[in-house]
Amino acid sequence: MGYYRAGFEVEGVDIKPQPHYPFKFYQADALEFPLEGYDAYHASPPCQGYSSHTNDDSKWVHYHRGKQTPKLIIPTRQRLLTTGRPFVIENIPDAKTELRAIILLCGSMFGLPINRHRLFETNFPLLAPGHGKCKGRLKKHAAANNLDYDNRIMSVTGKGRHAGCIEIWKRLMGITWPMRQADIVEAIPPAYTEYIGKYLIKHLST
Ligand SMILES: C[S@@+](CC[C@H](N)C(=O)[O-])C[C@H]1O[C@@H](n2cnc3c(N)ncnc32)[C@H](O)[C@@H]1O
Repeated sequence: MGYYRAGFEVEGVDIKPQPHYPFKFYQADALEFPLEGYDAYHASPPCQGYSSHTNDDSKWVHYHRGKQTPKLIIPTRQRLLTTGRPFVIENIPDAKTELRAIILLCGSMFGLPINRHRLFETNFPLLAPGHGKCKGRLKKHAAANNLDYDNRIMSVTGKGRHAGCIEIWKRLMGITWPMRQADIVEAIPPAYTEYIGKYLIKHLST
């Protein structure tokens, strides 16, 4: 949605059905999907394989027990490099050693009451807004949005541990179209990709 707001026509690929995807959608393996004909690419490979919450030595070892958690950042970059076009790879802070030339984006940079730190690798120039300590700004943004600041609520998590519901999570993230819980826990605020999309448009027009 962020790239659309920045001015792009958007098409999406996922290996699983995405019934609420708001643009043209292809259910396919992104490592095999034909990439010709696009101006630029964004990839958000699954993060679970990089997460300290799901690694075997973490206390959350049970959370993903029995589920496959593939590490797809490197094969994804290899494929994107073959296109010769600009690309973005997004992932969680725990994946920082796998990513190159990264910037960090935080909801507090965009007036959102949620930190949701994410890293973005790009092969074109990109500057991140200033970050510093985000907690104070998150509190201010939560108050402005009539959302009480409480770390337990101000995060978008999966099952169980935290209070919250899909409508609150959508407000935290700035998501205005329908989404299932399974989708939103995998998503990032569209403000992030709108920010990057504006750099990308400039890069493509130079
Ligand atoms: C971090 S989520 C990103 C979801 C969505 N693109 C978004 O930004 O909200 C990672 C997604 O990768 C999908 N996925 C995993 N392996 C894939 C593959 N080989 N090809 C395409 N999609 C894949 C998962 O189904 C999951 O939806």
